[in-house]
Amino acid sequence: MTAVVDTLPETERYARAVESSKRVRWDIEKDVIRGRRFDTGHKFLPDGLSLAGAFATLSPGERRFVSQIQGRTYAKIFGLVERFINAKVLELSHDHWFGDQTALEALVRFSDEELKHQALFRRIDAMIGDVLPSGYRFDVDANAVAHAVLGKSTWAVLALTLDIELFTLLHYTQSIAADAELSEIFKDVFLYHWKEESQHAILDELELVRIDSGMTADARDRAVDELIQLVAAVDGILQAQASADAEYFAATCGRPVDDAEARAIGAAFLKAYRWQYIHSGVQHRRFGTVLGSLITEAQAQRLKAALATLQ
Ligand SMILES: [Fe+2]
Ligand SMILES: [Fe+2]
Repeated sequence: MTAVVDTLPETERYARAVESSKRVRWDIEKDVIRGRRFDTGHKFLPDGLSLAGAFATLSPGERRFVSQIQGRTYAKIFGLVERFINAKVLELSHDHWFGDQTALEALVRFSDEELKHQALFRRIDAMIGDVLPSGYRFDVDANAVAHAVLGKSTWAVLALTLDIELFTLLHYTQSIAADAELSEIFKDVFLYHWKEESQHAILDELELVRIDSGMTADARDRAVDELIQLVAAVDGILQAQASADAEYFAATCGRPVDDAEARAIGAAFLKAYRWQYIHSGVQHRRFGTVLGSLITEAQAQRLKAALATLQ
């Protein structure tokens, strides 16, 4: 996003999001999958996301397997977060029904794209299931998570969503680093997801600022606490999944893994997941700029202190 676009009137920013959304529109089968299958000779997530180096005891082949397990979890986590993001976007669209019709169109397209992304990630999950050993588990219910998240204030949900959409953009830039072993299908997943998420990040920001402008200082202060609670809830999911994925690795890697190594592998999974799903977004320059313009220094410190516990 350029500085010139930042200063455009809101209605013009919604219009640009609609224009871009139409221009980049893609199809799951025709553009992303293109009749291909996953090959376990490839990494599914790039080293910069899987934190391959953190898995100190593993061989290069085992690290590749870890990137494939993480690739499946990537599909599962996005399927999960896009469920509540879409519900929130549909709810927000209500505010524009009889107002700015361009803003309404931008949110309708946003919702439509998130439904498509969920279908893409279900497809990717099934395709990975075809090539990896059985026994993988992801025991989190997307609807139960969505209900819990949507119980928080819109401000908190939008701030979390902005974090998510921004880290999606960063994940794409990580995936384009030169790496001959990286799966071509996964590269396309990052590329095509990024194309549509770029508009979502702008719309999150517009909606967050709009909602914020109608809030009292007290309500915003409570919303900052709710954002911290939401991040902690995300972390709870990541902790459970890091354990599940470490167990799956130990059960299917084809060699014995003792308790000490199992603990180290679990810790490395958690480190990677916290990087992928929390820190890579909140460290994004735009997240700091947008949130920093809305909250006080004391609130920013509260958030920073909470994030610092997730290392
Ligand atoms: Fe998405
Ligand atoms: Fe999105």
